[in-house]
Amino acid sequence: MKRDFLHITDFTADEIHETFALAREVKARFKAREDYKPFKDHTMAMIFAKPSARTRISFETGFFRMGGHALYLGPSDISIGKREAVKDIARVVARYNDVIMARLFSHDHVLEMAQYSSVPVINGLTDYNHPCQIMADMFTILEHRGHFRDLKIAYVGDGNNIVHSWLRLAQRLPLHFVCACPPGYQPDSKTLAETRQAGLSEIEISHDPRTAVQGADIVYTDVWASMGQKEEAQQRKERFKGFQVNDELMAATGKESLFMHCLPAERGVETTDSVIESAASIVFDEAENRMHAQNAILLKICGKG
Ligand code: CP
Ligand code: NVA
Repeated sequence: MKRDFLHITDFTADEIHETFALAREVKARFKAREDYKPFKDHTMAMIFAKPSARTRISFETGFFRMGGHALYLGPSDISIGKREAVKDIARVVARYNDVIMARLFSHDHVLEMAQYSSVPVINGLTDYNHPCQIMADMFTILEHRGHFRDLKIAYVGDGNNIVHSWLRLAQRLPLHFVCACPPGYQPDSKTLAETRQAGLSEIEISHDPRTAVQGADIVYTDVWASMGQKEEAQQRKERFKGFQVNDELMAATGKESLFMHCLPAERGVETTDSVIESAASIVFDEAENRMHAQNAILLKICGKG
């Protein structure tokens, strides 16, 4: 049975912990420039329907350094769902490659791709979620804190794909997760209900960022208008007034909190230069760890880890 990684919940809690341990091991091998080539003579097709810096670079570099070759297929190369049906391209690409990584608009498309592909499929972001990002984020938190105990994460901003992956992680690991968003911008109600039903984590939705961040170990934000929503950017700037993560909001945690952002950031909008450049900010550790966490995910779903 081939494995896919489309949601964090595709892994058990044990597999998530194993992935973090593997990420730490592979990161050390990379830092030591060890000759480590588990993907020698393997290829990975990377299908992008949306733009990317981190996802493309971290997957391509990571796979190359593990001995493989990654192919970048941009929005105009495949035109998924337009030039060709998802179920056709999934079967074609799987005939040439050992693994597929896809960044698509529609989550249904990535599900369909995994259904028809005979090789593992990794979700590199859809409108619904971004599982590789949140695996890298949690790995980064583990590096900084050394443990996950009593962890409060306050997410301030849009209840978007990033939040859905945090909620999925909260179905597997115990977290106190608060999402502070304007009314009307809450995360998906089904995902929220499933997370609460899982009964493992404390989940809150708030419309008051100042209260939400009190006692938070991590303050996390993301753009107010995601890819595909940029025409709403101006309207969202109005609706999200008061939700900017600035020095004042960071001080409202009342403790030495860390600041995280998946990037790309719109400086001066959802957060400020001052916060991104502050000692509390771990955004570049987070970006680097995309590569190490994804390498571990690749090894696990390809039966090498
Ligand atoms: N965080 C993230 O996925 O960045 P890119 O959109 O640049 O890949
Ligand atoms: N929510 C953002 C995340 C980018 C990594 C988007 O979907 O554009």
